[in-house]
Amino acid sequence: MSLRESVVIVTGAGSGIGRGTAKLLASEGAKIVIAEINQVGGIATLEEIISGGGTAKFIHTNVADEQSVHRMMEEAIASYGSVYGLVNNAGIELEAELSSMTVADWERILSVNLRSVFLCSRAAIPHMRRNGRGSIVNIASVHANFGFEGYSAYDASKGGIVALTRTIALENGPYQIRSNVICPGYIDTALWDSWLARQPEPEKIERETRQWHPLRRRGTPLDIAQAVKFLLSDAAEWITGISLVVDGGMSARFFGS
Ligand SMILES: NC(=O)c1ccc[n+]([C@@H]2O[C@H](COP(=O)([O-])OP(=O)(O)OC[C@H]3O[C@@H](n4cnc5c(N)ncnc54)[C@H](O)[C@@H]3O)[C@@H](O)[C@H]2O)c1
Repeated sequence: MSLRESVVIVTGAGSGIGRGTAKLLASEGAKIVIAEINQVGGIATLEEIISGGGTAKFIHTNVADEQSVHRMMEEAIASYGSVYGLVNNAGIELEAELSSMTVADWERILSVNLRSVFLCSRAAIPHMRRNGRGSIVNIASVHANFGFEGYSAYDASKGGIVALTRTIALENGPYQIRSNVICPGYIDTALWDSWLARQPEPEKIERETRQWHPLRRRGTPLDIAQAVKFLLSDAAEWITGISLVVDGGMSARFFGS
């Protein structure tokens, strides 16, 4: 199936990777649902897609909230009639050591990053089953594969996404619904900017992080969007349950070396 005319929901499409993905998929002819909590960012993405000749709809959504996700799906179906693709991209991070982390902070990260994947997938799958096809692409992180001091909640949420993706693939393969996960490395977005700003020597870290990558640059939202497009498309029709690392080769390096 080509992406042309297919309906794809992109969560957190008001910024960064989500915006880059929504714009690329729209340029391929997909009808995009921008499911985003930030009205200003969501509408900015909508305007960019429409001014580029694409089709999109912004639906104000809190992906961590069951009722909000339910309403988003109802509105998406009412507008476009079906859903083929779901990109679970919305995410937040928190730098806090486990020993001093509050339960509220733990639950906030797990809710926005992991419960959202459960809620949005659960809402989309019945429609995909009815259509006899569908593709879910979840955005985790290299944090799913490595430990990072100070990121226990974020790391746990991203590892959880990888595990959840596999089980969604098993349960829904017989209905021709695929489920895959992308683990991005460092991507230049607002999330990266806020991390960099918290570092003691941002300019030095900025230079060093480029060197961490064999390809000598950090990623762009488009680098991830291209991988999402591939996994959504028919070119990946026999690929399900996988975790695809897209990180400029960073994970190939042993950091002790
Ligand atoms: N930037 C990186 O280096 C990097 C690396 C690995 C993984 N990721 C992951 O990629 C995804 C996108 O990150 P990004 O860098 O583009 O971040 P970003 O902050 O630029 O964009 C995240 C978007 O999600 C939205 N969002 C947050 N909470 C939401 C909620 N409850 N409901 C709906 N929308 C919500 C935000 O408003 C924002 O528009 C995240 O899951 C992140 O963990 C990012």
